Amino acid sequence: MKIPEADTPENTNDTDGHRFFENQKITPYTDLLLHNMGPGLADNVPDHLASGSEWRTQPLWGLGLISLVNGHTYLLHDGRARSIEEAILWHGGEAEKSKENYKKLPAKQRQYLLKYLQSL
Ligand code: HEM
Repeated sequence: MKIPEADTPENTNDTDGHRFFENQKITPYTDLLLHNMGPGLADNVPDHLASGSEWRTQPLWGLGLISLVNGHTYLLHDGRARSIEEAILWHGGEAEKSKENYKKLPAKQRQYLLKYLQSL
């Protein structure tokens, strides 16, 4: 299963005077865009450009280090998901199809995907 556009693109840092960081190719695994994630994740509170059901794609880079660095794995905008799998299963709206594809995977492939995500 391929992780779709929203969570894969590369970026190249711009040249705004931080010479140690400029022009470096990074792979944050996010498109940095707002997406309608459906009623399950909606808080119905519009915030600047985001409607009450839109969230910015969280970078998946470093996902496997969150527990080490932060001492927890509370994922999604309000920390409701306690694991990567739970976070995927909360996907709805524009990401509904990805969630359904995930659910259709054989158990072994779901494990491989979760292991891959832990390695980012
Ligand atoms: C196989 C496909 C996908 C996987 C494995 C995946 C995985 C994840 C994970 C683990 C998170 C939680 C990250 C964190 O809280 O640190 C997340 C958040 C998010 N993803 Fe995905 N995702 C997938 C597809 C998509 C697609 C297709 C979209 C949009 C069209 C999308 C949009 C988002 C957004 C907006 C968030 C933040 C939601 C919030 O904070 O409540 N994802 N994703």
